[in-house]
Amino acid sequence: MTLGPTAATPARRAAATQPAVPALPAVEICGLSAGYDDRLVVHDLSFVVPRGRIVCLVGGSGCGKSTVIRTLVGLLKPLGGYVRVLGRDPLRVDERERIALLRRIGMLFQGGALLGSLTVGDNVALALHEHTDLPDGVIRRIVEQKLALVGLEGTAHLLPAQLSGGMRKRAAISRALALDPELLICDEPSAGLDPVVAAGLDATLRELQRRLGMTMVVVTHELASIAEIADHVVMLARDGRLLAQGSVAELQQSSEPGVREFFGRTAPPPAAATGPSMLAALEGTD
Ligand SMILES: Nc1ncnc2c1ncn2[C@@H]1O[C@H](COP(=O)(O)OP(=O)(O)OP(=O)(O)O)[C@@H](O)[C@H]1O
Ligand SMILES: [Mg+2]
Repeated sequence: MTLGPTAATPARRAAATQPAVPALPAVEICGLSAGYDDRLVVHDLSFVVPRGRIVCLVGGSGCGKSTVIRTLVGLLKPLGGYVRVLGRDPLRVDERERIALLRRIGMLFQGGALLGSLTVGDNVALALHEHTDLPDGVIRRIVEQKLALVGLEGTAHLLPAQLSGGMRKRAAISRALALDPELLICDEPSAGLDPVVAAGLDATLRELQRRLGMTMVVVTHELASIAEIADHVVMLARDGRLLAQGSVAELQQSSEPGVREFFGRTAPPPAAATGPSMLAALEGTD
């Protein structure tokens, strides 16, 4: 039996309730090669960051993580392939569109510091003054709200030097949230923090993602952070090529030596606990 064009099959009824086009990923990196002058640092890298998810970008020091991040915000031109961020190529838009795009991205640069001569509140307010015409009173209320989001209510009047290292990181995240970004990019947010403070910061990022549905790309070396926040992990090899990607559970099961070396430091794959490789490890031959 053939069905006429108006027949309401279960499949058609389901299709009618689905969006016609699936949401585009927040970030799409396709065949990306990037580097400095003639030196390639990142080779043929492809991955996507679906909307509303947290993707952790991991890999050894110098493998090119920050280089990837620079291409996402248009600070570095790809030498091959392309990146699309919130549906746009950050380097193939005119100046007005570029500013509009960057307003939708919150960025926490590696080692990015607050301006020491401004109060915490004025640091958070900077982008609001620059990009909006909101009156001062409204900006002050937004600043308090953004500080509260990261657990720093009541600190707007303090100077950065009066905060702990962990609080400064939170304030920097609060500053990155000032314009309600759809995408938050954090390059090593918990570097230099003790594990307890770092765990608090991870919980804050996770909470932001849950409450605001924010998409995040987080560069980190910390296994505990990855386990806490990552929906998906993209791992670069030392030579700047993709080593592996998948969920934390998938990567913990990986047989790829570089991945095992990284994840095996604290959490050997369950298979290793019972299989021959465990015996080999006990004998010191693995
Ligand atoms: N502005 C630059 N000019 C030239 N080379 C650079 C520049 N920035 C980074 N590099 C080089 O590119 C390579 C990758 O650097 P990148 O900062 O992307 O690494 P990373 O993975 O972020 O390292 P880390 O974990 O230490 O932050 C390194 O060899 C670095 O020396
Ligand atoms: Mg870096």
